Amino acid sequence: MSYTIVHDAAELVVGPADDLSGGVDTDSVTLEAGGVLDTRSDAAVVLEDGIVIEIGSSDELVRQYPIENAAAAVDATGQCVLPGFVDAHTHALFVGDRSDEFEAKLRGQTYQEILAEGGGILRTVRRVREASEQELRDRLLEHLDVLLAHGTTTVEVKSGYGLNTETELKMLSAIDGADDEHPVDVVATFMGAHAIPEGADADDYVDSVVEDQLPAVADQGIAEFCDVFCEEGVFTLEQSRRVLEAGATQGLTPKIHADEFERLGGTRLAAELGAASADHLLQSTDWDVRALLSADVTPVLLPGTAFGLGEGYPDLEPYRKRGAVPAIATDFNPNCHAPSPGFAATLACVGMGMTPAEAVVGITERGAAAIDRDRASGGAGTLTVGAPGDLVVIDGSSHRHLPYNFGVNVVETVLKAGEIVVSRHP
Ligand code: NIG
Ligand code: FE
Repeated sequence: MSYTIVHDAAELVVGPADDLSGGVDTDSVTLEAGGVLDTRSDAAVVLEDGIVIEIGSSDELVRQYPIENAAAAVDATGQCVLPGFVDAHTHALFVGDRSDEFEAKLRGQTYQEILAEGGGILRTVRRVREASEQELRDRLLEHLDVLLAHGTTTVEVKSGYGLNTETELKMLSAIDGADDEHPVDVVATFMGAHAIPEGADADDYVDSVVEDQLPAVADQGIAEFCDVFCEEGVFTLEQSRRVLEAGATQGLTPKIHADEFERLGGTRLAAELGAASADHLLQSTDWDVRALLSADVTPVLLPGTAFGLGEGYPDLEPYRKRGAVPAIATDFNPNCHAPSPGFAATLACVGMGMTPAEAVVGITERGAAAIDRDRASGGAGTLTVGAPGDLVVIDGSSHRHLPYNFGVNVVETVLKAGEIVVSRHP
């Protein structure tokens, strides 16, 4: 028996649970939306063959699984152990530098004005078209190192800086290559409908996404989801429907960027098509949230984007009153250069009024739900028995220390599939 043990944790976060029955410890934290975050004190977790095989009292588990016989042991005295973070919305594959746009926005230019002038996404597209697949893969590997150091063990990465078949395929192939080489699990989303290429007519471009890009992407067999930027000045509701329906026909599960700047009806479309998630939702109403939740579409909120754009944060009340915790993701991209889920959790707390427990659920179990990696399909985002051995040890005695600390990285140790992949104190 070759096991790894993480022992003597001041707190171990198991994941959300419906109630206090079924072995959930009374240390657990009540969630405002209902249910509890199951946490254990003085706890240990034992991993074998890449998965969690036991959680419980550290004293008992250390007796049963002696430290000296372990393949590896992590002493988490005074620290908190959390499920590995699942970042469900990123555009983490990009090259080039758009820091000057950060300054232009501070001077009053809007995101949409920059895009309309051929900057923003279109600028990254020019740079990505020039790059070789090797350059793209190397850049993504560098980004994955940063994400992993901040506790992300599973990440969704979108294409969408190619906007033609050749470059979209190149991006997806680079994503696949980086996934093979790196401990972080990378989930690929095709987003040919991220912007209208310079000089193109929107309807003609949608034709090419549906007729040329999507069949080629399906043939390539890397992408799992199909996403669209449903927004004023980008893709209309009808164009978004065409893309997502065509994607679904090719076996790609829909996702949608909805209600970021204008409320075009993307949430209703997501509900109707059974999308895995609807993301951004800055302008969404109570009605929209109800539509998403009743269709079991996971809402994904991106507080880093709202923060970076100086936009208001979404209201949590429509979620809370329906007993729901939305997923929280980083949206790491050249417009939101913030790859840390811990920082997104801070913003979710300070900007949106989430409790630390809710924010932790948002970047773990809810994030997994948004990319179909939750308990029903592999169990990322929790530390329940049978879940992947993906976990993060932070320098802080409880989960509160994650959002409480900002501007510093409190992640000390990361295990992926039972292996220690980050250790700041070897
Ligand atoms: O999710 N809103 C659209 N897409 C990205 C931004 C991509 C970019 O500006 O490069 C987002 O925020
Ligand atoms: Fe996005």
